[in-house]
Amino acid sequence: MTIAVAELTADMAAAEHAALAEEIKAHDVAYHRDDRPTIDDGDYDARKRRLREIEAAFPALAKGSPSQDVGGPIKSGFEPVTHSRPMLSLDNCFTDDEAAQFVEDVRKALGAADGDEVWITAEPKIDGLSLSLRYEQRHLVTAATRGDGSVGENVTANARMISDIPLTLPFGAPDVVEVRGEVYMTKERFNSLNERLAAEGEELYVNPRNTASGSLRQKNAQVTAERGLNFFAYAWGEMSEMPADTQSGMVEVLAGWGFKTNPLMGRYLTAKGLLARFNTIGEKRASLPYDIDGVVYKVDDLAQQRRLGFISRAPRWAKAHKYPAEQAQTVVRDIDIQVGRTGALTPVARLQPITVGGVVVTNATLHNEDFIVGLDNNGDVIREGRDIRVGDTVVIQRAGDVIPQIVDVVIDKRPVGSVRYEFPKKCPVCGSPAHREINEKTAKADSVTRCTGGLVCEAQAVERLKHFVSRNAFDIEGLGSKQIEYFFNSEDPAIRVRTPSDIFTLEARQAQSLTKLENVEGFGKSSVAKLYAAINERRTIALTRFLYGLGIRHAGEGTAKRLARHFGSYAAIRDVCSGDDWQDRRVAALTEIEDIGVTVARSLIEFHQDPNNAGEVENLLREVSPEHKVAEAAADSPVIGKTVVFTGSLVRMSREEAQAMAEALGAKVSGSVSKKTDLLVAGPGAGSKLEKAKSLDVKTIDEDEWFELVGPSLP
Ligand code: IVH
Repeated sequence: MTIAVAELTADMAAAEHAALAEEIKAHDVAYHRDDRPTIDDGDYDARKRRLREIEAAFPALAKGSPSQDVGGPIKSGFEPVTHSRPMLSLDNCFTDDEAAQFVEDVRKALGAADGDEVWITAEPKIDGLSLSLRYEQRHLVTAATRGDGSVGENVTANARMISDIPLTLPFGAPDVVEVRGEVYMTKERFNSLNERLAAEGEELYVNPRNTASGSLRQKNAQVTAERGLNFFAYAWGEMSEMPADTQSGMVEVLAGWGFKTNPLMGRYLTAKGLLARFNTIGEKRASLPYDIDGVVYKVDDLAQQRRLGFISRAPRWAKAHKYPAEQAQTVVRDIDIQVGRTGALTPVARLQPITVGGVVVTNATLHNEDFIVGLDNNGDVIREGRDIRVGDTVVIQRAGDVIPQIVDVVIDKRPVGSVRYEFPKKCPVCGSPAHREINEKTAKADSVTRCTGGLVCEAQAVERLKHFVSRNAFDIEGLGSKQIEYFFNSEDPAIRVRTPSDIFTLEARQAQSLTKLENVEGFGKSSVAKLYAAINERRTIALTRFLYGLGIRHAGEGTAKRLARHFGSYAAIRDVCSGDDWQDRRVAALTEIEDIGVTVARSLIEFHQDPNNAGEVENLLREVSPEHKVAEAAADSPVIGKTVVFTGSLVRMSREEAQAMAEALGAKVSGSVSKKTDLLVAGPGAGSKLEKAKSLDVKTIDEDEWFELVGPSLP
């Protein structure tokens, strides 16, 4: 149970406040700087509310508190820098098997036969922040943080203060050199900094990583200098000339130019070798002077790296193998139920605040009813069947940036008289029955308990709106969770927003009303004007954003993109999905699209056939126009208007890339071979689709032939 603020003693208030403040700050950083929130907005807001309530009762606590930050931390006053080559992220893995799979995948993709040598390097994954250093004519000209991978912050003045970063490169270095690596703070530096802060009665830093990041991003570069940061070089961006043709060779060159490189890097031929390295580095981990959170494996040969390429934002030639998460024990004070956009009831454990891996944790998801009971999603027993109860002492763990998980219950510490948690049978928000649907495929009850209230349920309605305005959907600036809740709960018809279309009628309703938004506390004239401008800016919207914003169950961004590419207009999509006849044909027309399955197809149809949804979409379309821009297909494209199917494993490009390429060239990509198929591109391992193509006499080519065919017309 959360204790009412009125019942808190000063000590309790101070302790809870400190824990909350620290947590909120970390979330602010995760959200605003890293663009990687680790909790949802509702949770965050609840925490901030509690913080303010405590401060209202104990005003002395407000000093230096994150409640004083206006609108969260400022996005930093640094100039943006567009990276000449994107700064990528790494795909993670957690087990030996997954690491071995990486080696196998790489070998397979390269077509390596037994006995063919594919060298892979292993080096520590430094827990700091990445930095890109650009040298022109041997002089450091720009240092930029990773930012969102495409655009970072210009921190050149600060980076110059890091003694590991050379200001000039030796003679002979290429004209343009971009060195990338990790800025970090040693554990020793971090501890002595915190000791000093403690002595001064200041708030302490959470962990070396955050501190390194804060120290680099200082207005006053002198502060950066005093913090004594370090830098390891391990990668590069643009190079006017490549001084080596392997990963390890490049790192040697970087060392030769005066950069610090990690001494623990090794080069191996087998998964066994890599794993042995992973283990030895793991044994050294605690005694290393800096924090690491895993080992990075990289294909050594740069030509092979190029052949392997990328999958979305991560290279296919690299993998981060993470060390197991850090664990701690704490007490479950209460179990709350949150209702999501699709009605899912998610239980959340409210925990006695505890520090795990340097971050204060105050709650953890309990996933669903089965998880609490001691079963996983497949119905298999977990935690040896120990259930989770209010009052239990639990083991929680936190791995990297992921949300903390409860991994076990300490039964010896279970209070006498505790009772099993009873999962609600009704939605805690709207009171509608909540139940577990029967999964059609398995005929078993779904693990998720769902509120049946649909749009009647305010929790679902408000979550849908939050989704609608979220970053990858309509992305309306000035309309965050807090504002949505305010508009949603307003009783005033000129302010109230209950559905997406209401957002777009707000300005007109306001114009005719006497109650003015600009007089409402927290708004003001200029912010209202900005809000309207932001809303109006979205009256034309990319079709993918529009589709994703509708929040159709099972239809995420990937589905939205596929639908947009395939159909080209919302009208065409709606035609296929609406109407209560020809169900099977409708499903077939959708599943024909690569990577759209029956569940997604049915969900799309169900959504459009619901009269409430259809009505709202109508209203919305009166306000906004979804548009799909197709990259103009090269006029001489040999595949324009053709239906192409890809099958088997592709080596030179990912499936997504292949699809995007074909579509950019004016082809239609389908997931199945039929009489309508014009061309099948088959990689190694192709099976039934290849057979079918043969039987239908469909022209079949391999990947190389594909490139020969389309190469001349590629943009
Ligand atoms: S290589 C294309 N090597 O991990 C791959 N990254 O999760 C570029 N990191 O943003 C990265 N140590 O900040 C690489 N030895 C290492 C690393 C490393 C830490 C960080 C880096 C990157 C993140 C990706």
